[in-house]
Amino acid sequence: MQTIKDIKEMQAHCLAARSAGQTIAFVPTMGYLHEGHMSLLHEGRKRGDLLVLSIFVNPTQFGQGEDLERYPRDFNRDETMARECDVDLIFYPDTASIYPDGYATYVTVEGPLTNTLEGACRPTHFRGVTTVVTKLLTIVMPHVALFGRKDFQQLAVIRRMAADLNLPVEILGMPIIRESDGLAMSSRNVYLSASERQQALSLVVSLNTAASVVKAGERAASVVLAKTVNRLESEPDLEVDYVKICNAETLEEVNEIDQESVMLLAVKVGKTRLIDNGLLMEQT
Ligand code: PAJ
Repeated sequence: MQTIKDIKEMQAHCLAARSAGQTIAFVPTMGYLHEGHMSLLHEGRKRGDLLVLSIFVNPTQFGQGEDLERYPRDFNRDETMARECDVDLIFYPDTASIYPDGYATYVTVEGPLTNTLEGACRPTHFRGVTTVVTKLLTIVMPHVALFGRKDFQQLAVIRRMAADLNLPVEILGMPIIRESDGLAMSSRNVYLSASERQQALSLVVSLNTAASVVKAGERAASVVLAKTVNRLESEPDLEVDYVKICNAETLEEVNEIDQESVMLLAVKVGKTRLIDNGLLMEQT
């Protein structure tokens, strides 16, 4: 396994691999790896001759007052986990090389995919994500790039961007990996105190409850949403940012729940912001 920090060196390496007929699978991350990231790497290992992991805490996707400075970082630990996943190449650039002085180019996906949900709460977030992902894709030049459905809206936005810009890459969405008690894995879970960690479970509990209410025959989004918000608000340190039921493709809110309906939640538990989501009906 090799770690490359330099952009030109990375591009040369990936170009040579492509020219030699190798398939490149790519997993972009902000590091502090967990089993969610590792599941993407395991799938990437199956799909690529060359498996590339990037680790870059991208400042442009953090808003003012968000957790950029305290975002957890541990390159040595990440390196060990990457080795366990049989990663070939870690791309580990510094901020000044991704955003040098005079940097002025941004990629934005406009409209309903980015102005709701996370986009409404964090107005500059997706602009930062799509800009850095575009840059990473032009540096790594992968055949396939893997993303988790944990960040459901991010995946939809990246799919839209890749299609709109005719990027020659397959965007692969992967299932949410959870702790044994159901909490969706996240690098930000380390911020949680024991009591907050317990309250954070109400995200997955609410999703499961909503799915069982739907299974029992309820189809009105307003009824399911009201029950969910009540459940979440019963936790003392939990503040709801949003709870919405949307069409999984368009992310537009729906009144009537069907096979394509996904519930998306964002809450603050103490100072930590957590998101989760789940389809409300079993896909048959
Ligand atoms: P990060 O939060 O590090 O996540 C990297 C990838 O891992 C994303 O595709 C995310 O959806 C996936 N992931 C995170 N938790 C997961 C879980 N519990 N189960 C499955 N997949 C999970 O998302 C980002 O970084 C950044 O926005 C990035 C795309 C790297 C751009 O900076």
